[in-house]
Amino acid sequence: MALYTTVMEEITGYTGLSPAALFTIVALMAVVYKTVCGMFVAPEDFNKPPVVTANFNSNILNMTNSSNTKDAQPLQLGEVTEHQLKAYDGSDPNKPILMAIKGQIYDVSSSRMFYGRGGPYAMFAGRDASRALALLSFKPQDLNGNLQGLDASELEILQDWEDKFMEKYVKVGHLACPTTNDSGS
Ligand code: HEM
Repeated sequence: MALYTTVMEEITGYTGLSPAALFTIVALMAVVYKTVCGMFVAPEDFNKPPVVTANFNSNILNMTNSSNTKDAQPLQLGEVTEHQLKAYDGSDPNKPILMAIKGQIYDVSSSRMFYGRGGPYAMFAGRDASRALALLSFKPQDLNGNLQGLDASELEILQDWEDKFMEKYVKVGHLACPTTNDSGS
């Protein structure tokens, strides 16, 4: 009891606060700390792509966020139509983001800040963006895989993009009929 009284007196002596006031302040600071920490994402978690599985069911592409699924398979799609690819344009935060260059499809989910909803390059996602990349263009009519009429330097720019993507992202499939004269819609 004497120890308890001494401690209480020391607290008052050091802080000028009553023990009850001091404990209340400490508790409030802990609550504020926890609340503020909960508002931020750890840097290592920020760019984590969702874990995905791919199921082919009657030729319908069906990929879901399966972070709770223990036996998640690496995403590999094989042949995909342009229509199916469109479903992975980054507008759904629970789906992977896919993008094609020269008909080869890459999982660019790790760069959701570029290709996800509201991202600066979201218009390239869910499609073959070869023409736009070759021409360094954001025009809607160039958002397709049509390589017709591109000159040597433009094809070289496209090659540089392809090299970058091959190095940075996992190739997950290819387009069934790569576009040659699509309007980008
Ligand atoms: C004013 C002109 C531009 C600036 C300042 C700019 C800046 C940037 C920056 C800073 C990055 C991030 C690079 C990194 O961290 O790896 C980036 C990425 C990218 N840029 Fe641009 N950019 C410009 C024009 C363009 C154009 C014209 C295109 C194509 C039409 C383009 C397509 C891309 C793509 C696809 C990425 C993402 C590459 C990846 O997935 O790693 N940019 N840009």
